[in-house]
Amino acid sequence: DWTMGAYREQAIEAIRKQVGDKQVICGLSGGVDSSVAAVLIHEAIGDQLTCVFVDHGLLRKGEAEEVVTMFRDHYNMKLIHADEQELFLGALDGQADPETKRKIIGGLFIDVFQKYANEIDGAEYLAQGTLYPDVIESVSFSGGPSVTIKSHHNVGGLPEKMGLKLVEPLRELFKDEVRALGTELGLPKSFIGRHPFPGPGLAIRCPGEITRAKLDILREADAVYIDQIRKHGLYDEIWQAFVAILPVRTVGVMGDGRTYDYACALRAVTSVDGMTADYYPFSHEFLGETATRIINEVEGINRVTYDITSKPPGTIEWE
Ligand code: XMP
Repeated sequence: DWTMGAYREQAIEAIRKQVGDKQVICGLSGGVDSSVAAVLIHEAIGDQLTCVFVDHGLLRKGEAEEVVTMFRDHYNMKLIHADEQELFLGALDGQADPETKRKIIGGLFIDVFQKYANEIDGAEYLAQGTLYPDVIESVSFSGGPSVTIKSHHNVGGLPEKMGLKLVEPLRELFKDEVRALGTELGLPKSFIGRHPFPGPGLAIRCPGEITRAKLDILREADAVYIDQIRKHGLYDEIWQAFVAILPVRTVGVMGDGRTYDYACALRAVTSVDGMTADYYPFSHEFLGETATRIINEVEGINRVTYDITSKPPGTIEWE
């Protein structure tokens, strides 16, 4: 794609010009956005970039290992793996309000970054994979009053508080353009095609109070669901798919016994940019098979529902 080729060259020049010989710190989430931003910046300034991967304990199954392997071993980037699970999960303990949860996670991100940024000699810049929809959605409804729908933990407030200047090379791009840029930069197709994953992670897919037990169940259920979607060749047709674990346990039967376990909701949507979305019309056969697999394979879940809400009026995530 010649357009993305040109964008890449332009962006690299702009990054070099902005940063000079200073050090840049980049929060790597493992999502497509921050990964593309990191690879682009790494291409522009090499070892002047240090990535910090924060494991907040709200990642999916196997995610931390995948990210570290790819960026440290494959791309040879300077990468700090910050295992801060205790810190985040401890602070979230007993918190049920969605905005409170987001603010706790966002606030701790700033603290954690500050800690690591201070350890990097001469770090003056903070790189973020902020996209155009993040920018406008967290500012206002178009044409309407300035109202925040949800506080995005990766936008706003962060750099001032840290005394760092921002590098946001994806700020003008929509998701599909970021994917094209990632392809242009040689990121693996499997990685580029990954569904978006929000900064607050599984916290916003675990409505109400978060517990380690719930997170473990959620991770297992999500892995089965995504496996089902891949096996049926549907992954690339879907913008985003995930499981949310519901804050309710319900009664079921298993063999001769009664079960009392969590219910979960499957979510899958089509979308162009995440601003609006339609629920994905799975076949009943697919839904039935997936429910059976989750209940059989995941201890702790005995009921599976499918979320058929579009956006608006729903949001994609549950919180
Ligand atoms: P909602 O739930 O608002 O989500 O319809 C729209 C898209 O944004 C993602 N999302 C986030 N991404 N930080 C992020 O980086 C956040 O705080 C955040 N909240 C939602 C969500 O996964 C979907 O793709």
